[in-house]
Amino acid sequence: MTPDEDVVVHQINDGACRTYLLGSTRTREAALVDPVLGSTDRYLQRLREGGWQLRWAIDTHTHADHLSGCRLLAERTGAEYAMHRKAGARHASTRLGDGSRLRIGDVVLEAIETPGHTKDSLTLKLPGRVLTGDWLFIGGAGRTDLPGGDPGEQWDSLTRVIPSLDEATLVLPGHDYNALSDAVLGAEKRANAHLQERSREDYVAWLSATAQPTPAWMIETLRANNEGPVDTRLRLAPPEAASVCAVGPGPQVPQISVDEVKRRLDSQGTSGPLLLDVRQPEEFAGELGHVPGAVLVPLPELAARIGEIARHRA
Ligand SMILES: [Fe+2]
Repeated sequence: MTPDEDVVVHQINDGACRTYLLGSTRTREAALVDPVLGSTDRYLQRLREGGWQLRWAIDTHTHADHLSGCRLLAERTGAEYAMHRKAGARHASTRLGDGSRLRIGDVVLEAIETPGHTKDSLTLKLPGRVLTGDWLFIGGAGRTDLPGGDPGEQWDSLTRVIPSLDEATLVLPGHDYNALSDAVLGAEKRANAHLQERSREDYVAWLSATAQPTPAWMIETLRANNEGPVDTRLRLAPPEAASVCAVGPGPQVPQISVDEVKRRLDSQGTSGPLLLDVRQPEEFAGELGHVPGAVLVPLPELAARIGEIARHRA
């Protein structure tokens, strides 16, 4: 049995927030990647039912949007809690950096440092797949405006690591908003806006234009995750945030195709949809241009200028 045949990869959460169970079918050793604290009992039941022995509980980075279940899982099962060498998690017992290897049976899980969303972001490589955490999403990438985020570091890691991966590699992200399970890297390289060729300076300017302040509950979540929460009843995210369990810039509303946008604009004339462009004025006027009739309100100004949108519809 080759390592490729030996490994199973199951995404075991509902909704946009992903937890992966990786297991060796030969030895029944397993790892959980990005487990959520509130689901600990469900994970333990799943491990029992599958006859899995948990060897590793791994966080791909310090999460701001949900509480980590790694410490509690490690305590309940004897697994090692593994994280980036720079992570602030006090109870992480195994520290990972570029090239670190974890074994699950015959399967080797290799760590790649991919900072940008946070300084302690890791991508985990296994045969034919990469678990990208919040570094790379399908059609997007993790936001870089939370504590420790840095768009320049994200550009650095994308341009360093993506070319080193086989185009046939499957990308398994830490979140997805469109119920997509995975994507082929080669297709992502063509379609994902974050993977298109642009200078570091342009990339930083692009992401910086949409930077938002970090909500207080996310600061609290980061702090709690560094301490290693163990109370599964603890809730720090407000109810409206809990349902998305996500922080990325990926779409949280239905997407429609460019062709569909054109059809609606053409067919409905002035009574049709309002096309709002939330980029910066220099992007609106720049070489990429804008759709005729689009109304420009840069994202950082949107909340303060929301009344203007109603006037456009009047
Ligand atoms: Fe994250």
